[in-house]
Amino acid sequence: KKFNVAVVGATGMVGNKIMEVLEERNFPIDQFYPMASANSAGKKVHFMGKEYTVEELNEHSFDKDIDIALFSAGGSTSKKYAPIAAKNGVIAIDNSSTWRMDENVPLIVPEVNPEDLKWHKNIIANPNCSTIQAMVPLKVLHETYKIKRVVYSTYQAVSGSGVNGYKDLEEGSKGEPNKFYPYPIAFNILPHIDVFEENGYTKEEMKMINETRKILHDDSIRITATTVRVPVFYSHSESINLEFEKDFDLDELITLLEKTPGIVVKNDIKNLQYPTPLDVAGKNEVYVGRIRRDESIDSGVNLWVVADNIRKGAATNAVQIAETLIQNNLI
Ligand code: A2P
Repeated sequence: KKFNVAVVGATGMVGNKIMEVLEERNFPIDQFYPMASANSAGKKVHFMGKEYTVEELNEHSFDKDIDIALFSAGGSTSKKYAPIAAKNGVIAIDNSSTWRMDENVPLIVPEVNPEDLKWHKNIIANPNCSTIQAMVPLKVLHETYKIKRVVYSTYQAVSGSGVNGYKDLEEGSKGEPNKFYPYPIAFNILPHIDVFEENGYTKEEMKMINETRKILHDDSIRITATTVRVPVFYSHSESINLEFEKDFDLDELITLLEKTPGIVVKNDIKNLQYPTPLDVAGKNEVYVGRIRRDESIDSGVNLWVVADNIRKGAATNAVQIAETLIQNNLI
């Protein structure tokens, strides 16, 4: 069977990558509808060997016979249009943060909690990029050793801010002033992603904390996070410190990660093998290295986790959600 698919935000960085990933994975598409704002209506895009004309998103966009709409056009667009899609029987897979913590909306990493897709009501949320890559290793470790506490420290690429962030690094490295971030990002790091909240955390930090609990179905896990923007174009890196309830054997833990679908373990320090953003850019998997015991506590481990934020952190995960719906006859 083939499906009618819309990409909302088809002219954006993630929307473009979604189209690339759909093509690479030979997604079973019948009709294809690229959508964006009025600014882009009429533009041509190439997809699966054909040329398509970008349509303006409006209240009637989902009157058509569409099976799946992949949204990546900002929170306010999703807030308004995902319910319109859902009401018309279109499954909206949404990359914004708008619906993630809604109790009627499953928040999905396909390798981690595909069972939550069963209760979807036509809106499905793609988690935050930093959360997605952490969930793939944390799920199996939580199942096996029960995670008590998580300390996340992130090193996030500028592409996570879209085209404007990318330009600030590109032009900043040539000596141009910053236009998007509050301070230069070239040759600098900023301990500030998204807006600050009342408690002194950033919204990005709170997304990691809340989304982790929702995806792992465990509100008892204690979590803290510091999220940092670094002068890297693609791939987020994370230092993740975990404290377990149970004891563990380090070799067994490494084997568990090696056997987990979606993970590549690159952990051979003798040969200087560990993941870096440059070598992970363009990959769909989550890379894990620097796996070592936290010797300051009874049972804990440190992980270095790197993934392409535009692929596994956004586009690849969204397309995998669509594939999982099809495999499980949930569409
Ligand atoms: P457009 O290019 O027409 O502005 P990015 O995050 O890379 O900036 O991309 C954002 C994407 O979301 C673009 O495709 C953009 O379309 C789209 N978009 C932004 N606002 C709207 C809107 N109100 N309706 C539809 N698409 C939108």
